[in-house]
Amino acid sequence: MASADDLGAVQALLRGCELPEADLTVASMCDFLTARTDTGELIGCVGLERAGDAGLLRSLAVSPAARMKGLGTGLLQEMESHALATGVRRLFLLTTSASAFFASKGYTACARSEAPAGIRSSTQFTGICPQSATCMSRNLAVLQVSTVAP
Ligand SMILES: CC(C)(COP(=O)(O)OP(=O)(O)OC[C@H]1O[C@@H](n2cnc3c(N)ncnc32)[C@H](O)[C@@H]1OP(=O)(O)O)[C@@H](O)C(=O)NCCC(=O)NCCS
Repeated sequence: MASADDLGAVQALLRGCELPEADLTVASMCDFLTARTDTGELIGCVGLERAGDAGLLRSLAVSPAARMKGLGTGLLQEMESHALATGVRRLFLLTTSASAFFASKGYTACARSEAPAGIRSSTQFTGICPQSATCMSRNLAVLQVSTVAP
């Protein structure tokens, strides 16, 4: 997991990827995962906001030089496992530029109204993500089934 010390570097990475970051706080970092190089440079992150058994997946970002090597997929899968293990059953997200990426990972487009009130009242839903952003969701129960299958 990320630590409070990661906040500045996470915000810088998100700014560089043109993703919203102004609403993040030190407290947000307890539900962020990060990836660093051997020299300590932050090159990837992903965050989660919780609302009961639903979650808002946000801020998935990989620095341009580190892309296309599986890091984005790895961060996404790690966050899905973390979310499921801590009580989240369905993930929602908003994206303006990566809907094809998320579709290839099992997410399907849905109406914003499908998200529970706790997700719809998040800063991403109410303000910082444009209305034109695509809302997508994934039921994490499928991960549980595949985990127990022989
Ligand atoms: C989306 C992102 C996290 C992917 O990271 P990554 O480390 O390059 O991803 P991976 O290496 O695991 O996967 C690469 C695959 O995803 C596809 N992909 C990457 N970005 C994509 C995008 N924006 N739209 C569609 N497909 C995309 C690649 O074509 C590649 O496909 P392939 O496996 O069929 O060749 C990265 O491009 C990024 O940070 N983008 C800017 C921020 C963003 O849009 N985040 C999502 C909104 S929350």
